[in-house]
Amino acid sequence: MSDVNQYTITQAVKDSFKTEPGSRFESLLQGLIEHLHDFTREQNVTHEEWMAALMFLYDCGKISTPERHEFILLSDVLGWSALVDMINTKGGATEGSNLGPFYLDNAPAKALGADLGDGRDGVTLLVHGRVMDTLKNPLPGAQVDTWQADGAGTYPIQEEGQDKYDLRGKFTVDDQARYYYTTVLPKPYTVPYDGPVGVLLRAGNRHAWRAPHLHFIVTAPGMSGITTEVFFKNTDYVDNDAVFGVRRSLIRDIKPARNIEALGYALDKRPDAVVEMDFVLAPEG
Ligand code: BEZ
Ligand code: FE
Repeated sequence: MSDVNQYTITQAVKDSFKTEPGSRFESLLQGLIEHLHDFTREQNVTHEEWMAALMFLYDCGKISTPERHEFILLSDVLGWSALVDMINTKGGATEGSNLGPFYLDNAPAKALGADLGDGRDGVTLLVHGRVMDTLKNPLPGAQVDTWQADGAGTYPIQEEGQDKYDLRGKFTVDDQARYYYTTVLPKPYTVPYDGPVGVLLRAGNRHAWRAPHLHFIVTAPGMSGITTEVFFKNTDYVDNDAVFGVRRSLIRDIKPARNIEALGYALDKRPDAVVEMDFVLAPEG
């Protein structure tokens, strides 16, 4: 065992890993060790603090299940998920935002014009727009997969006795690359705060509310898919979303449903209000 001190230990640990030179794994691991050690020296971390941090991670693991991802939630409230979304948004494309824990990859295909509200209470919203490339060319063949909370701020998947596929659907755009459907305007809801992440939020005098939003995964052949959200102007928490998901470019006006006949959509339900959101995808690679 070589003799190391608090300054030389960082290089010793880095050298102990024999990773493939120049590989991504090497870069990530070496950077992580360096930042972790620098942080520990800068903060003069005590044994109690070090153990508290490890116990916090232990608690996150203990409460996690296939349905509850406390580490993802931790990443969300620390703004880490949002930072990864920001870094990975492609130039000219719609900005990315949180996937969240309620996505189901096998949502039912729905016909354009369908109502996702399934008779739920609330404001009936027409959601529509086009899917385009960065030069504004329409992308026929694009798919728009959406999911959301209801008019009380609950995802059907969270409630016993509700159909988990409600308030979600996968649409294929028409020949003008348009998508359109009606649904119920979602309300704000809290991220789960009955676990360690909730302890952290309370310790930091933070709330757990998310601004009302619609989730989307938009894909098209040959294009890089996006995972994003749409928010609404002048709604609660749009300025202080608990997981830092809101971007200015993703906020839309809720407009009264006037003259919607001019759009030429065949809708299953008459909307009270309209939100328009175009999605822009960048080429793959
Ligand atoms: C959501 O948008 O559904 C969500 C995002 C992050 C944490 C919890 C919920
Ligand atoms: Fe959500």
